[in-house]
Amino acid sequence: MNAKHNETRRDFLRLSLAAGGALLLSTSLTQAQNERNDEGHNPDIPPTEDLMREHGVLRRALLVYEEGIRRMRYGQDMPMGILADTNDLLRRFIQEYHERLEERYLFTEFDNMGEYGLLVNTLRKQHEAGRQLTGRIAQLTGAAVFKMPDNRRQLIECMRLFIFMYRPHAAREDTVLFPAVRNIFSRDSFINLGEVFEDREKEALGENGFENIVIRIANIEKALGLYNLTQFTPKLS
Ligand SMILES: [Fe+2]
Ligand SMILES: [Fe+2]
Repeated sequence: MNAKHNETRRDFLRLSLAAGGALLLSTSLTQAQNERNDEGHNPDIPPTEDLMREHGVLRRALLVYEEGIRRMRYGQDMPMGILADTNDLLRRFIQEYHERLEERYLFTEFDNMGEYGLLVNTLRKQHEAGRQLTGRIAQLTGAAVFKMPDNRRQLIECMRLFIFMYRPHAAREDTVLFPAVRNIFSRDSFINLGEVFEDREKEALGENGFENIVIRIANIEKALGLYNLTQFTPKLS
């Protein structure tokens, strides 16, 4: 067999393997879709992925607050209803749902665990501070008060503090706390936790609860011209 023939055979094998991989991938995708279709949801979503995608919604809401601060500082039009709606989404979805899951099912497992114990102590205090800020923002975006200059200044400060705290808060959970969950939960209890989260999501948010939340934050972004992702790509020469 000459070298050229060997080369051709290697190419053929490479292509066959690639095609086989693609076939396997499409088979597993189809299987996943069927499972989702049968049960109305994907039963295999790990609890940590669940929490991380909820942080994605939080980050999108922080972007809305940043835009609110920018517009108010530059005297541009900023409909208070949009900030009130964002605040309401954060309260219901992040604080009354997501954070309650963290507190009830994760933080309790890390208490008295040295460094992790200290971390969850801080995270708990930040949840409480976040709820206080959300309460103040709800008052300050009220129709009767937001036009008063002092209240606008307070509103800007509350949103700034909210962003300032929640960015590192979510980042620390994503990179330290959630990865540690896999180490301290057994495989079975990790899977079980995913099912518990799925049930809680349905109870709290109804069918397609997460998907509806994503639609809601996307509509808020659209109202402020923030939805189109390409606007965030730098124009490099
Ligand atoms: Fe948290
Ligand atoms: Fe969180």
